[in-house]
Amino acid sequence: MIKITELNKTYNKGKSTEFHALKGLDFTVNDGEMVAIIGKSGAGKSTLLHILGAIDDYDGGEYKLVSDTEIEVGKLNQKKLAEFRNAHVGIVLQDFALVEGYSVIENVMIPLRFSKRKKSEYKPRAMEALKHVGMDDLAKKDVNKLSGGQKQRVAIARAIVNDPDFILADEPTGALDTETTGQIMSVFKELNEKGKTIIVVTHDPQVAEQCERVIEISDGKIVG
Ligand SMILES: Nc1ncnc2c1ncn2[C@@H]1O[C@H](COP(=O)(O)OP(=O)(O)OP(=O)(O)O)[C@@H](O)[C@H]1O
Ligand SMILES: [Mg+2]
Repeated sequence: MIKITELNKTYNKGKSTEFHALKGLDFTVNDGEMVAIIGKSGAGKSTLLHILGAIDDYDGGEYKLVSDTEIEVGKLNQKKLAEFRNAHVGIVLQDFALVEGYSVIENVMIPLRFSKRKKSEYKPRAMEALKHVGMDDLAKKDVNKLSGGQKQRVAIARAIVNDPDFILADEPTGALDTETTGQIMSVFKELNEKGKTIIVVTHDPQVAEQCERVIEISDGKIVG
């Protein structure tokens, strides 16, 4: 379970450009939920997602991941933060962020290189992840030669290959047409039905309505 209490984030603290982006957020996300985070541009959605992904810090409140043990993310040092990201979080972004010139399977194996898993596990795990997104047939293809929807499937496979506790997606369908958006949302829903916790930031009502619960943010606060 993700437990967020009184979460605050201020950019450029103490400078003339200081900006209070998150103003005391409180919410929880239970294991196995599929949640959408919506709100206008500048509301703080990506800021929140980056904090949940432990790729940005916060300066007030608490972010805890509660399972058998309890981790307070704000108390981790740099090394532990990297371990946290690798073990617990899978991230999917709007622009896919694949490594050009690598094949599909090579892209999916990248997170495994930073894990503690044996080398002999890399290929079978990557193929398993690709099966989940229906891309195992194209494992050897160069990612440059894929369509947008196929690229996003590969990015999702890369996000799940380490079996994270939850998947974070920031506008994962923002660069896709309506039909492909529907296909990508089906992939997320299937993963969710298999038990994955998924948090999707989106502008798109078509995406939000696929989620069990919607959290609306406005001006750094939860409004619905
Ligand atoms: N590195 C930064 N330094 C200063 N201000 C920032 C920084 N990053 C974001 N902000 C500000 O914080 C606010 C929230 O930004 P954020 O990117 O979280 O919005 P968002 O809800 O994701 O918007 P969008 O829908 O356009 O992606 C914005 O006003 C933005 O200008
Ligand atoms: Mg954003």
